[in-house]
Amino acid sequence: MSSTETTRTALVTGGSGGIGRAAALRLAADGIAVGVHYAGNKARAEEVVSTIEAGGGRAIAVGGDVAEPADMAAAFDAVEQAFGGVDVVVHTAGIMILAPLAELDLDDLDRMHRTNIRGTVVVAQEAARRVRTGGAIIAFSTSVTRLSFPTYGGYVASKGAVEALVPVLAREMRGRDVTVNAVAPGPTATPLFLDGKSDEQVAGLAKAAPLERLGRPEDIAEAVAFLAGPARWVNGQTLFANGGLA
Ligand SMILES: NC(=O)c1ccc[n+]([C@@H]2O[C@H](COP(=O)([O-])OP(=O)(O)OC[C@H]3O[C@@H](n4cnc5c(N)ncnc54)[C@H](OP(=O)(O)O)[C@@H]3O)[C@@H](O)[C@H]2O)c1
Repeated sequence: MSSTETTRTALVTGGSGGIGRAAALRLAADGIAVGVHYAGNKARAEEVVSTIEAGGGRAIAVGGDVAEPADMAAAFDAVEQAFGGVDVVVHTAGIMILAPLAELDLDDLDRMHRTNIRGTVVVAQEAARRVRTGGAIIAFSTSVTRLSFPTYGGYVASKGAVEALVPVLAREMRGRDVTVNAVAPGPTATPLFLDGKSDEQVAGLAKAAPLERLGRPEDIAEAVAFLAGPARWVNGQTLFANGGLA
């Protein structure tokens, strides 16, 4: 790299999670310096950083609650200080609590909304203020906004809000040459999907897609890399990545 060339950089929230880890590794493989964000699982974020560094890339681990503006301001500050700016924000951090609507604990609804909606807004606010020209902001929804599975009501309500926010922010970024999109994965083999499901449930969902398997975190990372890199004409969209399930 010449001394006048700027390294592209990314902050990946939920980098300690299944999809965030794969996205961080994929962006690093594309030459992007990565802030690997975690909430409670610092060791896992540090493992992702070590893996990136072992491959010749640059990364740091940054902590914080996505719904706390001070935490996320500090996380963005850390990436800017380490790498000189922020070009790509991949906001994967999220939680899922399932229950039929008639039985949904409203405290669980509030927790999902705090992390998934407020967290997306907090991260979007920092991203909107800081992402450099040519950058990309990538939020996370779910294919269940199309599939409408029973028990997913509280969760899809929070993710439907994310899908609604994306084109609004894309328009608010007019003139900045910054794209704003969401990725909506189908069932993907991570703790968020696998925890609490029987082997039969997992096998059934794996068979449901025409490609007859679960998504891998790397499949979703491919969609992230597309939106973070070459996809400059894709803006204000939700990209469903689910093997044809929905
Ligand atoms: N896996 C799927 O099948 C699937 C399907 C559709 C959509 N999605 C969406 O894809 C995204 C990533 O999911 P995943 O499967 O990779 O989940 P995951 O493996 O459970 O990881 C979740 C990540 O979110 C972080 N997190 C949770 N609450 C947080 C908070 N309050 N503040 C900051 N970070 C927080 C966790 O951090 P710590 O572990 O450090 O606490 C972890 O890094 C989520 O938005 C999810 O809704 C997943």
